[in-house]
Amino acid sequence: MGSKYKMLEHIWGIAKQLEFSTVVDLFSGSGAVSYLFKCHNKQVIANDYLHMAANIAVALIENRSEKLLEDDVLLLTSNTNQSDSFVTRTFEGIYYVREDNEFIDLVRCNIASLGHPFKQALARAALIRACLKKQPRGIFTYTGLRYDDGRGDLRRTLREHFFIAVTELNEAVFDNLRDNKVYQMDALGLIVPDHALIYMDPPYFSAFSDNDYVRRYHLVEGIACNWRGVDIQMHTKTKKFKGYPSPFSSRSGAKNALETLFERYRNHPIMLSYSSNSYPDKESILGMLKSHKKTVDVVPLDYLYCIGNKKSRRHNKVQEFIFVAS
Ligand SMILES: C[S@@+](CC[C@H](N)C(=O)[O-])C[C@H]1O[C@@H](n2cnc3c(N)ncnc32)[C@H](O)[C@@H]1O
Repeated sequence: MGSKYKMLEHIWGIAKQLEFSTVVDLFSGSGAVSYLFKCHNKQVIANDYLHMAANIAVALIENRSEKLLEDDVLLLTSNTNQSDSFVTRTFEGIYYVREDNEFIDLVRCNIASLGHPFKQALARAALIRACLKKQPRGIFTYTGLRYDDGRGDLRRTLREHFFIAVTELNEAVFDNLRDNKVYQMDALGLIVPDHALIYMDPPYFSAFSDNDYVRRYHLVEGIACNWRGVDIQMHTKTKKFKGYPSPFSSRSGAKNALETLFERYRNHPIMLSYSSNSYPDKESILGMLKSHKKTVDVVPLDYLYCIGNKKSRRHNKVQEFIFVAS
């Protein structure tokens, strides 16, 4: 949800006009924007408070050379008696068939045997990718096969998806000769280097939809953190757990958080991705940025939203902007 994958060309078109060698991706999500900057040889600092987002960033942004070799994959997928059967027991009949759940448990429990933390992150990222591909609409607010969206992906086994994901992720590992770093924390607590470009793509607060990432991705977030420190709401159909506290989940919190970030980064160049149906609105953001920055530009991009809108099943035309301030 909210991935900027389809807007990377626009984002780079704007960023390349700015002078910077380090970029901070404060809300890295899928890692698509961090990866874009890595490809353009920037030093990347990626941050997100989700374990799954930090995990993928460790695998592809911080990691410069570790890949999953044949022996690693064999180790990950070999039957041992290490499996705790947690997913098989907890999510029986909810998202996947038993064979898939057992495969998830097998890989989850074998990951610790991989020596290197980057290899472990790659394996977890591949497992997460496999789970997302096999879930209708890629989100875990649906249970069972009621929402079969007809994709061939739903007919593949989790094991097949995992092998494909391992190949794809391995191919994406490379070294851009920069010291790239990943953090998993509240964006408001991050300390960043002087002069870095601050790229912000915060959760959008809107009256039309909640921005609770954990509600949508709890199963894969659970895989990423091994359900440590969370309480599964066993009475719910989806067996989700509570979202993490974020200032962006309330109207006033979102405004205050943006104000704090603009003030804090008054001496840094800022790029902010934003959407027209969010609060604070475009004019307010402009006003807030102008009070801290000498120059502020707004670049509109056309974008069609397809998910995350509870009130309407229709595609929802919203305007995306990139604010550029320095
Ligand atoms: C719009 S998405 C970012 C999408 C990302 N740019 C991409 O291309 O995939 C917003 C992200 O902010 C994260 N997030 C929400 N509140 C946060 C907070 N207080 N600190 C850090 N990350 C937060 C969410 O986990 C989510 O991944």
